[in-house]
Amino acid sequence: MNHVNNLRPIGVFDSGIGGLTVVRQLISKLPNENIVYFGDTARVPYGSKSNSTVIEYSLQNAKFLIDKNVKAIVVACNTASSVALPALKEKLDVPVIGVIVPGAADAIKSTKNNRIGVIGTRATINNQAYADVIKSLNKNIEVFETACPLFVPLAEEGWTNHKATYSIAEEYLKDLHELNIDTLVLGCTHYPILSEVIQKVIGVDVALIDSGIATAVAVREELSKLDLLNSSSTQGEHSFYVSDVPTKFKEVAELFMGYEINHVNKIDLEILQKY
Ligand code: DGL
Repeated sequence: MNHVNNLRPIGVFDSGIGGLTVVRQLISKLPNENIVYFGDTARVPYGSKSNSTVIEYSLQNAKFLIDKNVKAIVVACNTASSVALPALKEKLDVPVIGVIVPGAADAIKSTKNNRIGVIGTRATINNQAYADVIKSLNKNIEVFETACPLFVPLAEEGWTNHKATYSIAEEYLKDLHELNIDTLVLGCTHYPILSEVIQKVIGVDVALIDSGIATAVAVREELSKLDLLNSSSTQGEHSFYVSDVPTKFKEVAELFMGYEINHVNKIDLEILQKY
């Protein structure tokens, strides 16, 4: 019984393609797992939307994945994790794993001077998502947060090493740079794509935390605890759904994933809105 259950895929969603950086880590840590990804590319960005809208969209995305018979849901979006996790956990009867708690725990492990910076979308920063979790785990740590909204379109444009990205990063990271942080959380799943620029601007002495890495480990632990790991010895299958197919989608998505994507399924927004 459990064997059949364990073959069910892991569902992953994001507002767009940023969550593919989490899929990349899931594939690396859980190569045998089947994965169904949904990117809400028609309604991205979530980072500038109200909490109630992000909750509504997140529930629709999750229910779409539940219809694909997933055994767990990974919220591969910091904005949705910071706002919609309680509603998702309440409404769904599969395990739901967000990116904030694993990323915060990794940042705490990394800091030596108890000074952590966090960058993310306006919604994630306004909700103090990381600061609350970090302080609840260690009240001696100081957390400094900055919203970097322009990083999302720069990542989607594939401007991973462009001079405009450097000058915008210098502007956004100026204050954090002077605050003597030794750890910086990339609190948006788009940002790992820009990590080369961010690392150069913030300095090589600052450790960058990609919460996708810690999230993949947390997913493995949760599935193992629930006896839901796929024990098959073959490479998992990965399918991709989006609510719109933007120009350059395949090229940029592969940059985020680090793997080739053979086929992307587009679903109608009206179908999503019925969930
Ligand atoms: N990938 C989303 C996140 O992690 C950011 C993109 C958006 O604003 O929708 O927060």
